[in-house]
Amino acid sequence: MVKYTDGMLKEDALKGKSILITGGGTGLGKSMGKYFLQLGANLIISSRKKEVLERTAEELRSETGGEVLPVVCDVRNFDQVSSVISSAEDAFGALNVVINNAAGNFISPTERLSNRAFDAIVDIVLKGTYNTTLAAGKSWIGKKQKGVFLNIVTTYAWTGSGYVVPSACAKAGVLALTRSLAVEWAEYGIRSNAIAPGPFPTEGAWSRLMPKEIADDLDPAKRIPLGRVGEHQELANLAAFLISDFSSYINGEVVTIDGGEWLKGAGQFSGFDVIPDHMWDLLEMARGKKK
Ligand code: HXC
Ligand code: NAP
Repeated sequence: MVKYTDGMLKEDALKGKSILITGGGTGLGKSMGKYFLQLGANLIISSRKKEVLERTAEELRSETGGEVLPVVCDVRNFDQVSSVISSAEDAFGALNVVINNAAGNFISPTERLSNRAFDAIVDIVLKGTYNTTLAAGKSWIGKKQKGVFLNIVTTYAWTGSGYVVPSACAKAGVLALTRSLAVEWAEYGIRSNAIAPGPFPTEGAWSRLMPKEIADDLDPAKRIPLGRVGEHQELANLAAFLISDFSSYINGEVVTIDGGEWLKGAGQFSGFDVIPDHMWDLLEMARGKKK
């Protein structure tokens, strides 16, 4: 029987595609990259830390037998981003897909943040995404080549969220970029979509957003209607579909993968799941419900 932790697409579904994942050395970027390689893609992973990238590249090559090019690049720097795109084109003949995944985040009451702290997050998430998007888009349009962008946002891109305000502002900007270019660049055969994940445990996100001291009280699984956090393969399956030719008619979409988390927060009565059955019985009796 098929499990939700199985790979979803058929063998070779991404064969011949060269895919750049920013922040691809760790966490969700690494998990997506592994699956893309299993589906026949060539992979370029970039981030600031050379050792992390090289270790991941070696691990992924030996696990999948695929080709992985690690390139150091700070997404805040447009020249470095342009040079990653040239390196990908030189190594694989063309770049076909960009996954804007690199991010930074921390939890803090907003009034405690310095303006530089705000800059640190917005520069990585929003400026980093538009730098990569602009560099790849100019190259694709110049070469009359089709391409696909997939941007990793989060559900508070549209709800907003206290205590992660720089990230919320930046992810909202990335979502606006996704939808804007889905229309503007469609005539060049460039699709733009986004994924909004709920909680998927990773070292990077958990160490910063779920400090041990409060992890039990704030256990996200308790807030999620489906009662669990996400599995990396579930996200990798969705990402692989959205960059594959099977989704050729999907453009400008943001797909939420969060077990129902954000909607539960939005529904006025959704918190009533804490009411036990016997209490519902009492409430019905008090309201005089007929048997
Ligand atoms: C408040 C902080 C801070 C913190 C840094 N600053 N950390 N302020 N709380 N925890 C302030 C500093 O004091 C400084 O301001 C300014 O930010 C810049 O700090 P730097 O250390 O120079 O920044 P930088 O080296 O650019 O570091 C970026 C970083 C770091 C974001 C701070 O954590 C990082 O590189 N993270 C990458 C990985 C990551 O965050 N992954 C999680 C993504 S998860 P002053 O004024 O003092 O100079 C995610 C999940 C979303 O996005 C949804 C989850 C459900
Ligand atoms: P992660 O492992 O910390 O990934 C973040 C990556 O971004 C790291 O590899 C980091 O590498 C890279 N990065 C940070 N600053 C950079 C910069 N200036 N230039 C280039 N690369 C940079 O965290 P993750 O949980 O996998 O997050 C991946 C994506 O999913 C992010 O967009 C995040 O917002 C999103 N997301 C995650 C969750 C979740 O629950 N995990 C939920 C919603 C959304 P270096 O430090 O080497 O640069």
